[in-house]
Amino acid sequence: MNQFNIAVLAGDGIGPEVMQEANKVLDAIAQRFAVSFTRNAYAVGGYAIDTEGEALPANTLQGCENADAILFGSIGGPKWDTLPLEQRPERAALLTLRSHFDLFSNLRPARIYPGMEHLSPLRADIAASGVDVLVVRELTSGIYFGQPKGRDGEGEEEYAFDTMRYSKREIRRIAVAAFEAAQKRRGKVTSVDKANVLVTSRLWREITEEVAQDYPSVELEHIYIDNATMQVMKNPAQFDVMLCSNLFGDIISDECAMMTGSMGLLPSASMNEDGFGLYEPAGGSAPDIAGQGIANPIAQIMSAAMMLRFSLNLPEAADAIEQAVVSTLEKGVLTGELLPANERSRAATTAQVGDEIVRHILNQE
Ligand code: NAD
Ligand code: IPM
Ligand code: MN
Repeated sequence: MNQFNIAVLAGDGIGPEVMQEANKVLDAIAQRFAVSFTRNAYAVGGYAIDTEGEALPANTLQGCENADAILFGSIGGPKWDTLPLEQRPERAALLTLRSHFDLFSNLRPARIYPGMEHLSPLRADIAASGVDVLVVRELTSGIYFGQPKGRDGEGEEEYAFDTMRYSKREIRRIAVAAFEAAQKRRGKVTSVDKANVLVTSRLWREITEEVAQDYPSVELEHIYIDNATMQVMKNPAQFDVMLCSNLFGDIISDECAMMTGSMGLLPSASMNEDGFGLYEPAGGSAPDIAGQGIANPIAQIMSAAMMLRFSLNLPEAADAIEQAVVSTLEKGVLTGELLPANERSRAATTAQVGDEIVRHILNQE
């Protein structure tokens, strides 16, 4: 029997609530397929600051080192917002993990499933046009990590600065990831940049053009980030793979999530060159709804499915989860944010959605 070791980092806000449902789903997968998951939970984020004095304790990092994959919830929240940037959960835990494991390739698939157009805030004809976008986001460089960053000067002349920096190597490897993905999808890469203003974007275009030479069956087009945000609303069906730098991918992926109906539907995989990965919802700790048992667990559950597919080589188990999620949506077992305001009284809880997905997994054949 296949046995896998997973580091589970639930984190803050809705993280623990949605992680509980992902754990139920993994239990169901273990029951149905010849596989077992040893899960070790570790403190991370604000919770780890409160309990262990730092956002990424050494034993959490060690646990991740020893694991086959990391399943991550979400971190951060108002309680830790006043800490200096380098101590905040976002940078001290999440960005450090991404950088430590060199998780440069971030895949964020946003899809409106046929029949699920009514969940989308897009106009019905646009939602029905066949929306299936993969955002491929560079995750370990760009303006998030470029040095120097800081503050200097005095009085009204005091200033702050971040550095947007990309090497050819960094651009090339994420472009390759995008072209590889496009080859297995509909054969189109749209590279998102701001090449009319930014020097990094000029290099980005140069290198993506070079990489495109190796993929004659894949079409490459370039688009400016501002135009991209509006085209996603106007005609999302034109996009297959959207290749983005770190910051642009952050922004466009929230928009793509919402286009499918909710931030709570968008999973993500963050992988390094060896296929080691961290799997997490694209959204955050959602402080506005945390603690109420109403968060949508699907992004977390689909992140677990991506983990099975990409790091653990269990494609049938990943397919089973995806099918169960689609069946659950089709059945109308939905958390409140997916429903119009006047229908919220019939909203399912986080646990009810998880239970329904588990039921579908155990009853599929
Ligand atoms: P957010 O993604 O947490 O929330 C944005 C909106 O989406 C909120 O209205 C929230 O209720 C909703 N939402 C998100 N996930 C949902 C779900 N599963 N079900 C239903 N609704 C959901 O973004 P924010 O409010 O800007 O950030 C809150 C905190 O989370 C901040 O501290 C931020 O830095 C952090 N954050 C963490 C991660 C991460 O851990 N990977 C990602 C994004 C933001
Ligand atoms: C995301 C988040 C993170 C990011 C934050 C929490 C650092 O917004 O994963 O999209 O900006 O990458
Ligand atoms: Mn984000």
